[in-house]
Amino acid sequence: MKLISVVGARPNFMKIAPLCRELKKYPSIKNILVHTGQHYDFKMSQVFFQELEIPRPHINLNAASGSHARQTSDIMIKFEKVLLDIKPSLVVVAGDVNSTLACSVTAAKLLIPVAHIEAGLRSFDRSMPEEINRIVTDSVSDVLFTTCRDANANLLKEGIPIHKIHFTGNIMMDSLLHNLKKAGSSKILSKMGLKNHNYCLVTLHRPANVDNAKNLKSILLALGSVSSLVPVVFPIHPRTIHNINKFGLSKTAAKFPALSLCEPAGYIDFLKLTSCARLVLTDSGGIQEETTALKIPCLTLRDNTERPVTVTMGTNKLISTNPARIVPECVKILQGRPKKSRIPPKWDGKTAERICKILHEFYS
Ligand code: UD1
Repeated sequence: MKLISVVGARPNFMKIAPLCRELKKYPSIKNILVHTGQHYDFKMSQVFFQELEIPRPHINLNAASGSHARQTSDIMIKFEKVLLDIKPSLVVVAGDVNSTLACSVTAAKLLIPVAHIEAGLRSFDRSMPEEINRIVTDSVSDVLFTTCRDANANLLKEGIPIHKIHFTGNIMMDSLLHNLKKAGSSKILSKMGLKNHNYCLVTLHRPANVDNAKNLKSILLALGSVSSLVPVVFPIHPRTIHNINKFGLSKTAAKFPALSLCEPAGYIDFLKLTSCARLVLTDSGGIQEETTALKIPCLTLRDNTERPVTVTMGTNKLISTNPARIVPECVKILQGRPKKSRIPPKWDGKTAERICKILHEFYS
């Protein structure tokens, strides 16, 4: 059996790494790794291959950046050629980035079965491109692996037959648990002059937060105020730094000595930064889950989340996209007691094992 697994953007790498590792136990399955090239900087891509020990991709599509249509169509045209050439029995995609949508639709149109890892998540907010990617990918997938029970319910409501849905747990936790010990020896805290559980970690890259000059300025000023209470470390996504420079906001950030803007961190350093933070402020999907797994307080700068289990069971709190909420909510965490939380079922490091068993049975 020939299987193609697809990666494209940063959040895909920690989901595909455990799958590649587990698939090695199945000699009857040949796993061909395709990188779309959606993310291409060393710090957004290659560092994850090294640290997560992902095999070198067999094929890189070197997709174009730019508008969603340009990026998606370029991946589709190039991926179609790969599928016609390799003729795999199955394509495995993960998450909700443009590469996920592009490759699942291309495979489905060639009648090649698609398996989707992290199916069924819904924010019910179609202004986010990821929501469209999730809905389209799930609608063309033949095997749908979910991280939590609410995802199963969402899929059933959309008419996906029950036999296609498998609640296998959160594969990102396989990467997290596998690398926690390694992260323990990371020297990132001493390198950045940070003390254990005495800093606020920030990541922001959603268009709703960073594409508007006034909004981004208010966020930086709020982070500056937080940095007078606790040091703030902000590993910065290419979209965000590009906008800070474009809007002339680097001087605004530089006014606050305890607000450190730095380059995007690799997986191991970032895991260390998250696991030792006093609190995390983010608009990422994956980080809402990682903080829940690590029991670190998380404030999410969004109006909704496709990962409600991180709020109902985990450490996450949605504080909307209003920058005025940042300072009071951070103060509440710094002065208050931590929220009681639990780790959701099947976030246990064994998801890849469950997925591969199902994939193997599907074809034998
Ligand atoms: C993408 C995903 C988002 C995910 C995020 C994680 C979509 C629709 N969005 O958003 O869901 O949370 O990745 O990082 O798929 N760039 C670089 N170097 C890189 C990658 C990007 O400089 O290695 C710059 C390019 O100018 C690019 C821009 O960042 O045009 C945005 O990248 P893109 O992949 O389009 O979207 P992200 O904002 O990264």
